[in-house]
Amino acid sequence: MRNIVLIGFMGTGKSTVGKRLAQSLAWDFVDTDYEIGEVTSMSVSEIFRRHGETRFRSEESIVVTRLSQQERLVIATGGGTVLNPANWNALAQNGIVIALHASLEAILARIGHKNDRPLLKGPRDVIEKLWSDRQACYAQADYIVDTSKKSIDEVVREILAWLE
Ligand code: S3P
Repeated sequence: MRNIVLIGFMGTGKSTVGKRLAQSLAWDFVDTDYEIGEVTSMSVSEIFRRHGETRFRSEESIVVTRLSQQERLVIATGGGTVLNPANWNALAQNGIVIALHASLEAILARIGHKNDRPLLKGPRDVIEKLWSDRQACYAQADYIVDTSKKSIDEVVREILAWLE
């Protein structure tokens, strides 16, 4: 059985939805950012601050390669993970790719002031460009759920219904 891979911009709910989905399927849940933290003993923001994004992306690819070789995992990726075609290919070869979509307004409202994501700290126009530049990539998923106006339960139910 292949993995289920959740992709999408920061704040679209990949980790929250992924945990619930994994529970419903009785599969294991993994989060690439969490795995990177375990391997490096640093938080994502610490890696960015101390070593830069390039180091983070290389740790991310190592984690993706390892997880892609496993089965029956619900994998929540980071927002930039699948921008690297090698990561996309590895994940898609052994997984169904589901994109969680949300408008930038919904994302910023959800994240509020509790924002420790390095790439969401810039000015609004820079974040908006990042969001819009990435949409074409996320749109290649096998299935897309618009989470902007849905509860976590509704999103999980929609994915489960599509998987049936
Ligand atoms: C990133 C998203 C983050 C994390 C890192 C980079 C991105 O994950 O991997 O800060 O490039 O969009 P989340 O999408 O879980 O916030």
